[in-house]
Amino acid sequence: MPALEDRHGRVIGNVRISLTDRCNLRCEYCMPIQGIDWIERDEILTFEEILRLVSIFYRYDIKKFRLTGGEPLVRKDVVDLIRMIKTTFPDIILSMTTNAVYLEELAQDLKIAGLDRLNISLDTLDHKTFENLTKRDQLSAVLKGIAKAREVGFDDIKINAVSIATLNADEKSLQQFVDLAKEYRLEIRFIELMPFSGNNWKDGGFIASKTLRDVFNSFDTLEVLPMVDKSSTSTSWKLKESGVKIGFISSVTETFCSACDRMRITADGKLRPCLHSKREYDIRELLRDGSEDNIIEELIRKGLSEKWAEHPDFTKITYLPPVDDREMIRIGG
Ligand code: 5AD
Ligand code: SF4
Repeated sequence: MPALEDRHGRVIGNVRISLTDRCNLRCEYCMPIQGIDWIERDEILTFEEILRLVSIFYRYDIKKFRLTGGEPLVRKDVVDLIRMIKTTFPDIILSMTTNAVYLEELAQDLKIAGLDRLNISLDTLDHKTFENLTKRDQLSAVLKGIAKAREVGFDDIKINAVSIATLNADEKSLQQFVDLAKEYRLEIRFIELMPFSGNNWKDGGFIASKTLRDVFNSFDTLEVLPMVDKSSTSTSWKLKESGVKIGFISSVTETFCSACDRMRITADGKLRPCLHSKREYDIRELLRDGSEDNIIEELIRKGLSEKWAEHPDFTKITYLPPVDDREMIRIGG
């Protein structure tokens, strides 16, 4: 099967599948304060439907899949899905982006089921700030989750922290991340806050990676590391004294789209070729109406042809995310 290559020469190597739009936290940059209309249960892809999609993408030599949400660990029997995927396709590298609240309870089972990698979303190590941001007092659960994940043998854990001016961009906050990284041998990656429908982007608030690097350099020395993974949207650095690896995803100040090798499937079975484009393709309909794989492949190719060269310039004062688009929580990280 020929690779899935878009018209900008990028080959799809990575598919992100959202398992649910529900979440046990309420991060304000992800979910509108007034909440969202949850997707109905019967609209959510079943495990069998997800497995069929994985097998179709796998035929295009795609070996990297990431399970996202909302929060993927609130999906009932998520461990069974991981086992199904990994027993059918043992050579797939299966990752998950989670807020880690349920990780203490589930890490062991996830590891045994075959999950390979964990990305943990964590923006602050201050309990009060965590509660203000997520509307839940759950930082202790997250920290226990990280410890447990390490204990059961996850050794490629990355922390994703959205950098926000008022939240985590000061020296003390960054030092706390460095300490955590040292304790659990983690890589910390800072993501510039992106505009999504319903997240009050017009108020701005993102911190440029460069600004964060200046703060790091005020108490240690950042050295850039060579690019290993060409499709990575993150640049890797190392702190000289502490030895901690720090990544920066400059989603606003430097468009990362040229390296993008992804496609997304929403929890309700829409193919979303670009994170910031509201253009979607209904795969669920085809999964449910008896269509053969070749019809689904045709739709995937159509979606692929719609991938943007790059997303709009969010630093332009006039930029606003489309109001009628999905919120981040219903797209999937
Ligand atoms: N900007 C940048 N990153 C975001 N995430 C969620 N919303 C935003 C946003 N507005 C990140 C989360 C998590 C992943 C699911 O996406 O922090 O790591
Ligand atoms: Fe939940 Fe993650 Fe969105 Fe926060 S960023 S509300 S943890 S899905």
